[in-house]
Amino acid sequence: MTAVDLGMPRLPTGGAAGPTSTPVVGPARPDTPELVDQFGRVATDLRISLTDRCNLRCTYCMPAEGLDWMPGDERLSDRELIRLITVAVTRLGVRELRFTGGEPLLRRGLEDILAACAALLPRPDISLTTNGIGLERRAAGLAEAGLDRLNVSLDTLRRERFQEITRRDRLADVLAGLTAAKAAGLAPLKINSVLMRGVNADEAVDLLEFAVGNGYELRFIEQMPLDAQHGWKRAGMVSAQEILDSLRTAFALRPEAGERGAAPAELWTVDGGPVRVGVIGAVTRPFCDRCDRTRLTADGQVRSCLFATGETDLRVLLRGGAGDEEIARAWRDAMWAKAPGHGIDDPDFVQPHRPMSAIGG
Ligand code: 5AD
Ligand code: SF4
Repeated sequence: MTAVDLGMPRLPTGGAAGPTSTPVVGPARPDTPELVDQFGRVATDLRISLTDRCNLRCTYCMPAEGLDWMPGDERLSDRELIRLITVAVTRLGVRELRFTGGEPLLRRGLEDILAACAALLPRPDISLTTNGIGLERRAAGLAEAGLDRLNVSLDTLRRERFQEITRRDRLADVLAGLTAAKAAGLAPLKINSVLMRGVNADEAVDLLEFAVGNGYELRFIEQMPLDAQHGWKRAGMVSAQEILDSLRTAFALRPEAGERGAAPAELWTVDGGPVRVGVIGAVTRPFCDRCDRTRLTADGQVRSCLFATGETDLRVLLRGGAGDEEIARAWRDAMWAKAPGHGIDDPDFVQPHRPMSAIGG
């Protein structure tokens, strides 16, 4: 289902409105502590971008020269970040935390942040999405600090191709990182792959063979228009349907039984199981109507959606001396204004100003 056929009112005027919003006054927010929105969704999954920096330069994400990184004084300190996460977990009903970047392993103090989150009550589920560089050294410590699960991004198994896609010759580091994460018991260990036509679209089967052989759970993600260069073209994107078609040339895929819930991936058991593969059709099979996410950027902005064009500034509240309840209220209001969908198919779609590397995946 897409945003437009929900038959629901559009958003009221306001900062966090998404690309599809029109200025219509919406219903009043019910007096509930959770992060509810006008379309009946409840956000319980918080994605936290720890830094906008990265040690790779994936072509679908950043230009070769990198980006103008966020000024240090705008980035939240560990204390500030932990305070906001505590508000989310103890006042807003957030149950899952996922740390992203940029590259979250570049954040100094990551292990301390994880440990502080693991000490919260109720104890949230804690996961991390990384490009795997440096993971070999860090995996055991991350698990010890309280990390429950890990997603590692890996789009190719071929060294030259890896270099072409990420502009760095680091495939061996990523593979070593995966092995270390497995040894550290960070399970289920997931791999995220983005396929691109004319680049690595022919590798779907090889990637799944690799994942099945090692007991990793592979997830293919459709490429989304979130690159800093604004170079995304629908024609270059390999669709969920194409990915499934090519996997089926080599594997028997059976739809996973059970409720998909808010999970963006459609899951398939591979050759009778137990290994599964996921396909995230973010563009062609949107799951916005079941979205349970809220996002916090490294500079303390709440985003109601990856594609939101507006943000709510919690950093200014925090540094202005606001109390926890005032911060919680601002966060609730931001999420109440969440757009019904990403609107990629709308004729007036505008890509968010902030690139993926500064939002987090
Ligand atoms: N479209 C889809 N996925 C993307 N990622 C980064 N940029 C894009 C994009 N434009 C993926 C990364 C990583 C996760 C954080 O998001 O490959 O796995
Ligand atoms: Fe770094 Fe991830 Fe962007 Fe690649 S996709 S450049 S690993 S932030």
